[in-house]
Amino acid sequence: MSSEPQVQSWYHEPTGSFTHLLRDSESRAAAVVDPVLDYDPASGRLGTSFLEPLAATIDRDRLELVWILETHAHADHLSAAAWLRGRAGGRLGAGQGIREVQARFADFYHLGADFVPDGRQFDRLFAEGDILPLGGLRIRVMATPGHTSDSVAYIAGNAAFIGDTMFAPDYGTARCDFPGGDAADLFRSIQRLLELPPETALYLCHDYPPDGRAPRASFTVAEQRQGNVHLQQAPDPESFVALRNKRDAGLDVPQLILPALQVNIRAGCLPEPEANGTRYLKIPLDRM
Ligand SMILES: [Fe+2]
Repeated sequence: MSSEPQVQSWYHEPTGSFTHLLRDSESRAAAVVDPVLDYDPASGRLGTSFLEPLAATIDRDRLELVWILETHAHADHLSAAAWLRGRAGGRLGAGQGIREVQARFADFYHLGADFVPDGRQFDRLFAEGDILPLGGLRIRVMATPGHTSDSVAYIAGNAAFIGDTMFAPDYGTARCDFPGGDAADLFRSIQRLLELPPETALYLCHDYPPDGRAPRASFTVAEQRQGNVHLQQAPDPESFVALRNKRDAGLDVPQLILPALQVNIRAGCLPEPEANGTRYLKIPLDRM
């Protein structure tokens, strides 16, 4: 029995996001974390060209896609989870806090009675400590609230998929100013992740590299401990909350938040087509 996953990551340039594929090297069992759908806000066009190489890898290596895992309800990109499940199978899961996010945004988007905010859009909702089998591997769920209240990390052997908690050491940590976000919670979640063994590879949800540095999908616990710029500047909860809140006050609203959340609370399913066969997204005015 193997305890270490093999991981491949793809970088979605337009949103600075990673999608990760992990597999058990002793079997063909695989999982995908945070699949990204292509979406052009100017034209409203959707696409799956970003995920085609991942899907081709699943086909070529005859992998059994067991899990499609979301680390949280993303505000910066549309989830391709429903498309990937249709294409390659697997069970789609997220943290159980997604219900609270669904309830909040069902009201925000005025979705009506056909959207029930109880998590039924997902195959499985996870709680802290849940164990997901993946061939000979075990994926452990860690609740990591802070960036959002539904955030979870997925830990398999020496790899952890940490969602929006820490970013690359030169960039720091995730914002906490979305509804349900909390900087003190994020500090606690980061400390728990940093208690993993120092050689653990922490796989990022995003990278926003400065000029001259290539995007990088993971850093070890040791690298984050030594070099994360926000944790260096603010190593205790009080100073971290102050730093985070000050920084968040100056950040712009993410460009795709309005299209993204209404799809992502539906587990990546699109709104039903209207009578003319076209699907529409809703843009609430003067609500952000
Ligand atoms: Fe996020």
